[in-house]
Amino acid sequence: MQNDLEKILFHERTILARCDELARRITVDYHGKELTVVAVMNGALLFVSDLLRRVPLPLKLDCISVASYHGGTASSGTVVFDQLSMPDVSGRHVLIVDDILDSGRTLHAVCEKLRAEAEPLSVRICVLLKKDKIREKPVDADYVGFEIEDEFVVGYGLDFDERYRNLPCIGVLRKELTIAG
Ligand code: IMP
Ligand code: MG
Repeated sequence: MQNDLEKILFHERTILARCDELARRITVDYHGKELTVVAVMNGALLFVSDLLRRVPLPLKLDCISVASYHGGTASSGTVVFDQLSMPDVSGRHVLIVDDILDSGRTLHAVCEKLRAEAEPLSVRICVLLKKDKIREKPVDADYVGFEIEDEFVVGYGLDFDERYRNLPCIGVLRKELTIAG
């Protein structure tokens, strides 16, 4: 699988070291607060798992399933929720965890839906990666692992056509492999 990468951006040890730093900040910021973490599946699976085992707070964890890519390397434009209702986060502080902030459509839609269905005390966003680009929706992340160029990346939860999620590192996929064949 690693041979399919044009270049590696972040090795596993680099990602885990960054998880340590993010977790320390989150632990301080949410100390004494009722925290619910909402993880956006499937992309955030590996990240949220490494992040949260470093956060020694009595938090709750909910997972939601959202898709905006359908096999390609460009967002489809529509955000599809796989569940009918969102977790009940009324009266709680919410930290949404996702793999990557790209166009912003997914995280914007998740924030809107959470706020429409419940009354959270606060909503913040934590992403492992943030692409350097102009976003289509007005959304930003409060906790960011790494800022990257506007390239299609895979690994550590991020997929191309559901593959490469289990790569322990993050890298740029070779261009010829992203052309549908
Ligand atoms: P957005 O709605 O355009 O911000 O895209 C968010 C979702 O698209 C992320 O949660 C990822 O699942 C997926 N995505 C965005 N960029 C990439 C990428 O470079 N590689 C793999 N998945 C990506
Ligand atoms: Mg995702």
